[in-house]
Amino acid sequence: MDLIIRRAMLPPRVAPQAKHAVDIGIEAGRIVAVEANLAAVARDEIDAAGSLVTPPFVDPHFHMDATLSYGLPRVNASGTLLEGIALWGELKPHLMQEALIERAMQYCDWAVARGLLAIRSHVDVCDPRLLAVEALVEVKRRVAPYLDLQLVAFPQDGVLRSAGAFENLKRSIAMGVDVVGGIPHFERTMADGAQSVRMLCEYAAKQGLRVDMHCDESDDPMSRHIETLAAETQRLGLHGRVTGSHLTSMHSMDNYYVSKLLPLMRESGVSAIANPLINITLQGRSDTYPKRRGMTRVPEMMAAGINVAFGHDCVMDPWYSLGSGDMLEVAHMGLHVAQMTGVEGMHACFDAVTVNGARILGLEDYGVAPGCAANLVLLDARDPVEAIRLRAARLAVISRGKVVSRAPAARAALSLEGRPSEVDFKLHRD
Ligand code: FE2
Repeated sequence: MDLIIRRAMLPPRVAPQAKHAVDIGIEAGRIVAVEANLAAVARDEIDAAGSLVTPPFVDPHFHMDATLSYGLPRVNASGTLLEGIALWGELKPHLMQEALIERAMQYCDWAVARGLLAIRSHVDVCDPRLLAVEALVEVKRRVAPYLDLQLVAFPQDGVLRSAGAFENLKRSIAMGVDVVGGIPHFERTMADGAQSVRMLCEYAAKQGLRVDMHCDESDDPMSRHIETLAAETQRLGLHGRVTGSHLTSMHSMDNYYVSKLLPLMRESGVSAIANPLINITLQGRSDTYPKRRGMTRVPEMMAAGINVAFGHDCVMDPWYSLGSGDMLEVAHMGLHVAQMTGVEGMHACFDAVTVNGARILGLEDYGVAPGCAANLVLLDARDPVEAIRLRAARLAVISRGKVVSRAPAARAALSLEGRPSEVDFKLHRD
């Protein structure tokens, strides 16, 4: 074999049958064995020593065309959504293809170092030059040997509201963009928003493509686009291929209405993506007190059987000045905002940045089982809850069977059992 990871603990929900440490055998970029005391030799071995080995983190909602542009041409002084949109408008005409590629490649390096090996990125198609599309298609080609990058054609200014946007969207699909996007709540009227959902879903159905729309990203309790998206999914037979992103208005909707909406989403197989870092900072912004959290109803959707994942959305761009590509930070925020501090809830938040996102992207060979792609992360933690608590160091990241990143351990000073070796207690006592 090429590589064996010895004594690995697997996430209980990824491998419910594995209660004890296992060895993972890897050959030609694939997992070929997962068993205790694997009797085989390999060219390289990693001793996990009882630490957690997980399939990689997945970010199902990101904007790679804007990432790492912090400070270009100026920073978002107020930190609000409106100033962010205005700032993106200022930046767009000055985007240079090479610089955009460079920033995106830098972000991919950050992502890999954090065990994030699959990203779905929206790309703005409202600029008729389609410069960002060209750039990200090139980035997708360059990172393909080690990172799954899926692109969504995203009409940021509205597919109906922005002249030529639908044509641009179709052109971008022909250039190699994978998924049909939309932003119905940004169209001029509720009726236009519904019309845009119908039009884009019909196009996706005809082309055999997946759909992922920014949907109801507002505090408006009357926003109804996720209902239209679910209904269109059902009408066109797109079950399992459609995702509603953000859905923040659901936070403010009438409870009776939501009790009808969730079964419809479940029935149509529509997935949902919450973006905890962004939703908690941008939504409820103009409220006085009490102030709404603005994140969608994550535990309620999960309880209704809807596939829910967490996305990062932004890192150091016009909308968000922070972030580092760390999906454990995203899970940590999601867990707190959704008050998912029960044992099941904490594990569900780990799923939301791993396996649930993989389902949205349609990654068929994702997991830790013979036949899966050998994409794995060794964490400096014993289980998913500790991983979230510590935003655990990624000791080793393996992509297509090759170790692509390593980092030193940091847990000794931070667990109940470990000795805080770096701290001189005598010094503090004296
Ligand atoms: Fe977004």
